[in-house]
Amino acid sequence: MSNDLLDLARDVAFAAGELVYRRRAEGVTVADHKSSPVDVVTLADRESEALIRSMLADARPNDAFFGEETSGEAAARDGGTSGLTWIVDPIDGTVNYLYDIPHYAISITVVEGDPNPFTWNALAGCVLNPATGEVFTATAGEGAWLGDTAIHAAPSVDLAQALVATGFGYDAEVRRAQGAVVAQLLPEVRDIRRMGTASLDLCFVANGRLNAYFERGLQHWDHAAGALIAREAGARVTGFDGVAASREFTLAGAPELAAALEARLIDLGV
Ligand code: IPD
Ligand code: CA
Repeated sequence: MSNDLLDLARDVAFAAGELVYRRRAEGVTVADHKSSPVDVVTLADRESEALIRSMLADARPNDAFFGEETSGEAAARDGGTSGLTWIVDPIDGTVNYLYDIPHYAISITVVEGDPNPFTWNALAGCVLNPATGEVFTATAGEGAWLGDTAIHAAPSVDLAQALVATGFGYDAEVRRAQGAVVAQLLPEVRDIRRMGTASLDLCFVANGRLNAYFERGLQHWDHAAGALIAREAGARVTGFDGVAASREFTLAGAPELAAALEARLIDLGV
């Protein structure tokens, strides 16, 4: 069952990826702003979500849908009778997309239960970068993949040797606090990356391109698929104190490193 769901997630992600990539070549403009003037949405975000939503509704009419551009939590809970919910980011890394930086993704996850990371059971997830063609996938209990190749998180390293990614929210005050934490962490690690696409940050932990990743303020659609993929690749992916990754806190890395980074971030007042 999970494999059929993953096949569907992958097919839908590739269809949306083809659309998004084509729209990027045609030229992208901002359609609207969301939480702040720098939190933008493009027409391609909306078109991508509409395509994903309709393909999933055709294939699985009884499932609920929770997507970045159209869903309120209530809407998602109202939809569906099967007990499954699709969590969708139609373009993760929208600012990269706007600037034609080829590092953005379509992220699709299917979970058992409501769109609540504390209670859902993620079954399958897919993160596709349409600009590179890289597709990361996982099904619960069956490992994680980049294309056809099984992937594994890097072994643990000391914090001083760790390449650590993070991200920032769209609210200026939140960013001020996030920047202060990063300024203190920077001299204590190998280096910091802010690549702009949370789903791909988690996938890069999954295949060892990063040692660790942390961020506060993520939405469900930012972390759902990447968290499953990183976990299936052997990383520890949690919030504070081992609870599920969520908007409050998401941290991924080899278990020993993740524990050390979490302790240090708490000291720094993350
Ligand atoms: C954003 C990206 C970014 C992360 C932000 C997210 P969006 O998603 O994933 O890397 O730092 O927290 O909101 O807005 O590009 O879909
Ligand atoms: Ca996102």
